[in-house]
Amino acid sequence: MALPASVRILEVGPRDGFQSISTWIDTPVKLQTIQMLLDAGVDGIEAVSFVSPKAIPQMRDAAQIVEALGPAACDERLFALVPNEKGAKLACQAGLRCLTLVISASEAHNQSNVRKTPAQSLDELEHIVQSCPGVHIKLSLATAFGCPFLGQLPDEALFFVLDGALAAGVRDICLCDTIGVASPDQVDRVLRSVLQRYQGRGVDWSLHLHNTRGLAAANTLAALSLGIDRFESAVAGLGGCPFAPGASGNMATEDLVYLLHAMGIRTQVDLDAVIRTAEFITGAVGCCCDSKINAVTARPVRPNC
Ligand code: COA
Ligand code: ZN
Repeated sequence: MALPASVRILEVGPRDGFQSISTWIDTPVKLQTIQMLLDAGVDGIEAVSFVSPKAIPQMRDAAQIVEALGPAACDERLFALVPNEKGAKLACQAGLRCLTLVISASEAHNQSNVRKTPAQSLDELEHIVQSCPGVHIKLSLATAFGCPFLGQLPDEALFFVLDGALAAGVRDICLCDTIGVASPDQVDRVLRSVLQRYQGRGVDWSLHLHNTRGLAAANTLAALSLGIDRFESAVAGLGGCPFAPGASGNMATEDLVYLLHAMGIRTQVDLDAVIRTAEFITGAVGCCCDSKINAVTARPVRPNC
């Protein structure tokens, strides 16, 4: 098993995690969380999303957050998720240089999430690429391993979006297990199929795994075994898509870092600093910390968690 020597971690807690918390989180708390995660050494951070405030009220301070982080922060480490061209324009106006466009392989989930067919989202992707020159664009392919409405999708549904994204020039692509239904054998099969089809096309692949059924660590190992060396995760195991019924938290960043370091795989991330961030955010928000490593190292934040 040829595992990568080092792994890059993109933290998504401030976006994927906070979007699924319905009580308002004050902007300074969000800012402190983002800063603590940057200081912990994550390779990138999805700090906000530029989405309709009616769809996701928690993200309505996105522009304020980007402004407060300042121009120096808007480097290759800071991402915003956008669902459409309007979001991309707002993110660029705010000063961001890295965007994540989310498109679902499942038509039903894409309609539920961004009210478009995958083909319509791909048209928007082309416009975004043309209207935001010099901006780095990552595609997050949602429901790559299963959809809450349609179940497991045929590879062709993934290829349809991936073909379109590559044709538009995107080379940073994250396959997302949006609702945490993947199993290691499926991760192996889907990745082999995708890697073979797009071999030699210069794509940087990453994985975004929800831990809904407790298989995110096993799925991570399946992906590592195929050479995948970029993962998205969320501090304290926060996360979930409000438009995908049954979605719950991501692979916790601290569990991912622990797993990698335990296997001798290097990251830039300071595990203790992520654990402190998990303690900070679960204490500030009053939510549970859904990570194994915190349970053995940290004080319980709430007695009933
Ligand atoms: N940011 C802010 N406002 C936006 C926007 C964006 N990216 N896109 C659209 N809007 C605004 C429009 O200006 C319009 O405002 P108005 O009612 O004041 O005129 C309103 O939202 C509706 O616009 P419309 O184009 O009709 O969008 P919609 O109602 O079909 O909703 C989305 C589509 C994509 C904007 C909405 O579903 C959304 O934001 N979804 C978020 C998806 C998400 O974040 N999922 C979790 C992460 S995977
Ligand atoms: Zn997610």
